[in-house]
Amino acid sequence: MSEKLNGMNGYLLSISDEEFQLMRSLIYERFGINLTEQKRSLLIGRLQKIIKTSGFHSFQQYYEHIINSQNEQALSNLIDRVSTNHTYFYREKDHFDYFLQTALPNVVSRLEAKGSRELRVWCAGCSSGEEPYMILMLMQKYFGMDYLKWDAGVLATDISLRALNTAKAGIYNQEKIDMIPEELVSKHFYKSGKSEWVVKDSLKKEATFRRFNLMNSHFPFKKPFQIIFCRNVMIYFDQPTRDNLVKKFYQFTDPGGYFFIGHSESLGRSHDHYQYVKPAVYQKRYK
Ligand SMILES: C[S@@+](CC[C@H](N)C(=O)[O-])C[C@H]1O[C@@H](n2cnc3c(N)ncnc32)[C@H](O)[C@@H]1O
Repeated sequence: MSEKLNGMNGYLLSISDEEFQLMRSLIYERFGINLTEQKRSLLIGRLQKIIKTSGFHSFQQYYEHIINSQNEQALSNLIDRVSTNHTYFYREKDHFDYFLQTALPNVVSRLEAKGSRELRVWCAGCSSGEEPYMILMLMQKYFGMDYLKWDAGVLATDISLRALNTAKAGIYNQEKIDMIPEELVSKHFYKSGKSEWVVKDSLKKEATFRRFNLMNSHFPFKKPFQIIFCRNVMIYFDQPTRDNLVKKFYQFTDPGGYFFIGHSESLGRSHDHYQYVKPAVYQKRYK
């Protein structure tokens, strides 16, 4: 079967079964994203513009260009278009309530008992920054003036450079800002132009944005994290990929630390080691 869509400039771009399999395997092997047969039209829709503007006439040509490229740029452009970056402030709010009221106090008292003031939080699959900024706003709310006494912050990683650039710029429209409580908006944002809001540097500097592929076999962290968020990312992966990844998250979670996933996700068998706390929240047992 060959599926066709109306492309730009009036001509039709089609993808053959073979081309779909090639693209699908490439995306799965490099990024873990599992494109099912139902995602065929989505793939055409997301890629036809780049294929045409780059002067290619078929998916086959585009595929060959990517695999023969000496640098990562072509792959990076591909994932920028294929990844779904949908996110918003305060998404799955009860997670943030739990984070503020239970997870943070627990890990902080445990760190204090050890005489440590280093709080490590990782937001994996941070997309355009709404989630890590939300985490940071709540961390600062929790600590108040004491925040400065802590070596705290959020490591925010994603595979999509386009999403990361938006995150680093920290500019959001009114609709997005409306999701955040007013006291936090006035503290952490300033208005620029008619309906744009910018994250203040005081918050921005607490986020470290990095490109990181969760499929990398090596996770380059020297120390574990007290809290890891990886929400609405593993929905794009198949079960073996998730199981593998969860093992790595577990390895990099401090004992007593928390792991948050999206509400529509479940760890299934792969939570063997994590303890279930509440829907989509897990904890690594204390040693
Ligand atoms: C739907 S967004 C979720 C954003 C945010 N965590 C939330 O819950 O609102 C999924 C993110 O996962 C990222 N992603 C997908 N595959 C990835 C991979 N292999 N490595 C790192 N990030 C990946 C995408 O680029 C995208 O920004």
